Formats: sequence, C-alpha cells, structure tokens
Amino acid sequence: MGTIVIDEHYEKCRKLLKESISTKRYIHSIGVSNTSACLAMRYGCDVNKAYLAGLLHDCAKGLKPAELIAIVENEGMEISVSEQENPELLHAKAGSIIARDKYGITDREILDGICWHTTGKPAMTLLEEIVFTADYIEPNRTNIPNLEDIRKSAFVDLNMTITLICRNTLDYLKSGKAVIDRMTAQTYEFYNNKANRSNE
Ligand SMILES: [Fe+2]
Ligand SMILES: [Fe+2]
Repeated sequence: MGTIVIDEHYEKCRKLLKESISTKRYIHSIGVSNTSACLAMRYGCDVNKAYLAGLLHDCAKGLKPAELIAIVENEGMEISVSEQENPELLHAKAGSIIARDKYGITDREILDGICWHTTGKPAMTLLEEIVFTADYIEPNRTNIPNLEDIRKSAFVDLNMTITLICRNTLDYLKSGKAVIDRMTAQTYEFYNNKANRSNE
C-alpha cells in the first residue's frame, strides 16, 4: 500500500500482455484492471493488487486447449470434469501459473484472483470477488442481460452482484449445449444465501 499504482512493474506487465494476447482481449484486460481498481477503492481492498490482478486475469486466453491442460497438469492442479469437457475454462488456472512464471507475480492473493475469475467459488476473498465482478461489468462488455443494473449493483452490494452474475451465467449455459460448471453453481448457492442473510 502507499506506492504508485502504475509503477514500473505494472508497465512491464502491461507491455508484455499487449504482445501476448489479441487486441480485443487486451482492451478488455485494461477495462478489468481499471474496474477492479474502482471496486477496490469502494470496498477497501488493496488497489495495487486489484489493478494487477485485473490486468493479468486473462493472460492465458488464446492458448490452445492442449497447452492449457499441459500447463495446469504440470503444476499438479486438479482438472474438473467440466474443465475436461470445456478446457477453455482452464485459462483462469493456467493464467495464475503464467502470471507467476512469465510476469513475475509472487503475491498469492493476486494469483488467486486470477485463478478464480471465471467460475468464482464459494467464500472468495475480497480481491477474488472484485476481479470476478470486474470481468463481468468492465466498460467494454456488451450484450449481457441486465448489465446496467448489475453495474450499479456492483458498487452497492457485492454479494448480490455475484449472485446475479452467476445466475446469468447459469441461465446462459442452460440455454446452450455448454456444460454447467459445478463450481459456478456452487458459487451461486453460496452468494445467494449470503446475500439473503445480509438482507434479513
Ligand atoms: Fe477470463
Ligand atoms: Fe476476462
């Protein structure tokens, strides 16, 4: 805390990221970085960590399924059934490994923020909740049901917002052929209960 947010390390990471992912994904990443910082200010989280986690959350995006599987397996991390069926989900876990090995991130909180940004999980840390939410609401996002309401809600009630995001994701997955990720369903359950409890 107390250091300048856009420091030399952030700039190094930003430039490396720009060379490593598509332009569209890079623009999205900058959006998530800035939105994570805004949410961190709102909820009293470390703004520097939020900035970096948001920037790098999709650093493994664009890798081939076989590459993602190899990176995660090599690390000895578990690959769930839904991840086997839909290896694209693994870009979050693989991203946390690449952020460490290629971008020199050593902070466990930042790495975990990257690791859980796609499915979320029950009882996330504040930073994990922030990156998960920022990924969904950043300014370049379009075509999401009730996006304006979810954006407003993000700055009022994080538990409620994560519930809304998971519900949208589960509805979307149900409507298509994609398998429902078990973890997203668990995240929904947890945050729906938490939001209801805190509103009692
Ligand atoms: Fe992602
Ligand atoms: Fe993303």
